[in-house]
Amino acid sequence: MSKKITNIAHRGASSYAPENTKAAFDLAIEMGVKHIELDVHSSKDNHLVVIHDDTLDRTTNGQGNVKDFTLKELQSLDAGSWFSEKYSNENICTLEEIISKYAESTHLHIEIKGRTLNLAQKTCTLIRSLEATDMVTITSFWKDSLVETKNFAPEMKTGWLVPMGPGSKWDNEIVEISKKYKFDQICPRAELVTKTLVSNLHREGFEVRCHGVFTEDLMRSVVSSGADGMTINFPDKLNTYLNQKGIEVD
Ligand code: G3P
Ligand code: CA
Repeated sequence: MSKKITNIAHRGASSYAPENTKAAFDLAIEMGVKHIELDVHSSKDNHLVVIHDDTLDRTTNGQGNVKDFTLKELQSLDAGSWFSEKYSNENICTLEEIISKYAESTHLHIEIKGRTLNLAQKTCTLIRSLEATDMVTITSFWKDSLVETKNFAPEMKTGWLVPMGPGSKWDNEIVEISKKYKFDQICPRAELVTKTLVSNLHREGFEVRCHGVFTEDLMRSVVSSGADGMTINFPDKLNTYLNQKGIEVD
């Protein structure tokens, strides 16, 4: 195998540091990773913030919906202690801070997670204003967020996180929809991926990068499927595995 595999730190190096914080992103970079994935929501006062869930409850010391709080209120929360006391200084970052700090040295896979009005357009406007278009890929499970992205900013690279749960069978309509809207990547769950599926998607002109790589077995099976990359919570282990196999890492 001579191709490169893209190793994307999922919410940062999130097995080892609190997800979607600078600590997790910095750790991924220390591990030699060049791609970082993160999730975006909007605050009540229309600032783009980096957090996974709709609510604050799981990953901060706050409670309630992210979209019901101002940026100032969100920034006052502790976004690290839930993971470990040593991360008590981590807070919720703005997307602007993260792009400004990381997009020169890493490629950012920005997932439009929230469902607030025009979130994709606002994200694209920010990326354009920071001249970071070449350093990002916009992803989402929400097809309409990707369509909004492509309509507003056709220059943005997009990846559709295929919204199929465990046990589902592949649905070829995904390919037809992705072609229609000119998405660049298809991002299936790791469990769905086979060599045949990957080669079919490649033949149709798509990059294939997986998500939901929860175990090292899944990591190895994604590599052997011929997929182009994956998000992973333990990117150090993927680096080690690819080095052992003599596969180049992107
Ligand atoms: O790689 C995409 C992945 O981040 C999607 O799942 O739930 O972690 O946002 P989730
Ligand atoms: Ca995500």
